[in-house]
Amino acid sequence: MTAPTVLSVASEVFPLVKTGGLADVAGALPPALAAEGVAVRTLLPGYPAVLEATRGAEPVHAWAQLQGGPARLLAARAAGLDLLVLDAPHLYARPGNPYVGDDGKEWPDNAQRFAALSLAAAQVGRGILPAFVPDIVHAHDWQAGLAPAYLHYGGARRPRTVMTVHNLAFQGQFPGTLLAELGLPAHAFSMDGVEYFGTIGYLKAGLALADRLTTVSPRYAMEIRTPEFGMGLDGLLRHRAGVMTGILNGIDTEYWNPATDPYLPSPFDAKRVANREANKAALRERFGLDPDAGAPLFGVVSRLTWQKGMDVLLESVPDLVALGAQLVLVGSGESALEAGFRAASSAYPGLVGAMVGFDESAAHLVQGGADALIVPSRFEPCGLTQLCALRYGTIPVAARVGGLADTVSDANEMALVPSAGNGLQFAPVTSEALVLTLERAVSLWRDRATWRRLQQHAMAADVGWRRPAKQYAALYRELAASPAA
Ligand code: ADP
Ligand code: GLC
Repeated sequence: MTAPTVLSVASEVFPLVKTGGLADVAGALPPALAAEGVAVRTLLPGYPAVLEATRGAEPVHAWAQLQGGPARLLAARAAGLDLLVLDAPHLYARPGNPYVGDDGKEWPDNAQRFAALSLAAAQVGRGILPAFVPDIVHAHDWQAGLAPAYLHYGGARRPRTVMTVHNLAFQGQFPGTLLAELGLPAHAFSMDGVEYFGTIGYLKAGLALADRLTTVSPRYAMEIRTPEFGMGLDGLLRHRAGVMTGILNGIDTEYWNPATDPYLPSPFDAKRVANREANKAALRERFGLDPDAGAPLFGVVSRLTWQKGMDVLLESVPDLVALGAQLVLVGSGESALEAGFRAASSAYPGLVGAMVGFDESAAHLVQGGADALIVPSRFEPCGLTQLCALRYGTIPVAARVGGLADTVSDANEMALVPSAGNGLQFAPVTSEALVLTLERAVSLWRDRATWRRLQQHAMAADVGWRRPAKQYAALYRELAASPAA
């Protein structure tokens, strides 16, 4: 059988627009699938940065009205991706963040903005572009969650659908009164349709109506079927467990390559780990930290949110400093946490450095220069920063949840011997448990030979997209060949 063709639908795609790991996945999976013979086109909103990066793109379809204004579909090739850009100025021509305005509040028309994305996806799925009629429409997260719904309610001849959950915490819920405006039939507003606790649930719709569901790690696939992690959707997910799989994310190992990383003053690989020292010095200098503390330098690259356990880390800073260790943090998010880390860096000059903001070069320097990366997430669908850390020989100190548990194995004595340990794990996500594990990291770090061994294990981990891409390709093939429901 020839390989199926796929329309991937996502609200952010690296390097064009990114607020988190979704963009990394949406940007890196299609090229990895190309190596498996699967042709993917990616549909994304025409935010200003996206239109800028795809100037000269070819208009291939036009709507007089799409959720309140005229819109066009532009075909372009950029950043190694075949793109379909939804150019709808009334929805996307605004500066800043894709989801929130300058005041930090959700754009008031997010319901229309992401319904339009899903509607465009469904129409491409039904063949409005004769040159590209996909076998499969693959929707990522709530912003694309209505695509399987539009296809489900739009008639029998349709492509097959896949819904991937990158984070169950973001569900996209909007008033039920919008149903007609969004172009959904009245009978869609039911328990087995788009209705969710009296609202229209975009993610819920995709989870209820897509042919196949995936999430980004096997452990998270299990966790979200429980009330503790299910965020209100565990019942539905148990019901649909038979069509759901967990496929671990990878990272782009060309882009995240310590041997060629342009952001690192001193490139290195597993054979030249000692070269990391110069990066560590540069990192300390950039963050104004004392040059040699005789203890490890811990790093953090994260959204500053409750999910990421950043309040627990902040609470642990005095103990971390008491261990003689240093901390560098690059992050942005909740204002109380931003202020908290700024205050911690003033309280411990030379020992704690915080850069509040989203900064690609700082993120790379932390990965290339810190000794260990702290990832204290309360839940983590997959997590990419620990994968980057492994690749860079930065030992992850991570909570034992979700994708972190699937990718980090604890360096206890049992694991170190058969070369399985590549990091440190802790549970539960409390300051006590974190600090005990930081202590363990400090003493492992003092044992130079053991630490080197850990770094070698970490850097040998397979964190690329080849293996996951094979799993997605197999899923697409199986789905394309299976009879329509
Ligand atoms: P999530 O998507 O939940 O935020 P992931 O670990 O999957 O978490 O992905 C986060 C991505 O965003 C990684 O590529 C990470 O390097 C990047 N990142 C997070 N915070 C920052 C920041 N402040 N500056 C630069 N990159 C960041
Ligand atoms: C989400 C999750 C993160 C995951 C990323 C990419 O943002 O929070 O764990 O790695 O999506 O799938």
